[in-house]
Amino acid sequence: MRGCDALLCLLTERVDEELLSHAGTLRIVSNMAVGVDNIDVAACTARRIWVGHTPGVLTQATADFTFALLLASARHIVSGDAFVRSGAWKQWDPNLMLGLELSGATLGIIGLGAIGQAVATRAQAFGMNVLGYNRRKRQVPGVTQVELNELLERSDVVSLHIALTPDTRGLLGEREFARMKPGSLLVNTARGGLMDADALATALLAGRPGRAALDVFEPEPPNPAHPLLSSQQVVLAPHLGSATEATRLAMARLAANNIVEVLGGRAPRSAVNALHS
Ligand code: DGY
Repeated sequence: MRGCDALLCLLTERVDEELLSHAGTLRIVSNMAVGVDNIDVAACTARRIWVGHTPGVLTQATADFTFALLLASARHIVSGDAFVRSGAWKQWDPNLMLGLELSGATLGIIGLGAIGQAVATRAQAFGMNVLGYNRRKRQVPGVTQVELNELLERSDVVSLHIALTPDTRGLLGEREFARMKPGSLLVNTARGGLMDADALATALLAGRPGRAALDVFEPEPPNPAHPLLSSQQVVLAPHLGSATEATRLAMARLAANNIVEVLGGRAPRSAVNALHS
């Protein structure tokens, strides 16, 4: 970092005091991600370094992928695929791999930012009832806002769309899983650190929740020996929420533009911090 004016980084890079101490000329850290949990934002602000990120451009792709995972788990797509390929399928059976009917089911969305709202729109199109929890109350059409415990108790599907911060780390653990409906589904396309993975593995054995669909882990990739990776109740993906060509290009452009703005003496288009003169 010595002598650099800008850093364009990914969520896999840790930007902390140690790194910043080598970066005396740095003016912006531009993350090609909306989440900035890999960056010590306070340390950057204290050094008058902008922190840019990429909100907005990945909203629809991430909401689509949330629904893809939700459906994959709710309707046994992954296990069904393996079943057919293995030759174990013998005949059509009225009781084979019965899943969750989305129409009339309740989806609980934790975090009603742009992605949470885009997931709500999709859920409404599927005929789901939508509950939402957001720390700061937000009016979202068609979403009934409730406290976190009530959301966990009433939802057939719970989906995480909240930023990982020191406050939200471990938001879902043993106590929260125990409140979930038996057989319910947990979807996480936000950050692995929002939930206690060990507690989830144990909770799945007790059936609350009954299934999980996970795109994010901590660490990434997860330890292959972790019980979640061998559980038949879990559908897994390698952090693909925003992985469409159009979205990844838009993220890269926005991350680059944030740097261009700062090097031109202006504020970045999308920053998580404010630098007062
Ligand atoms: C983000 O942007 O924070 C995602 O996790 C990757 O698209």
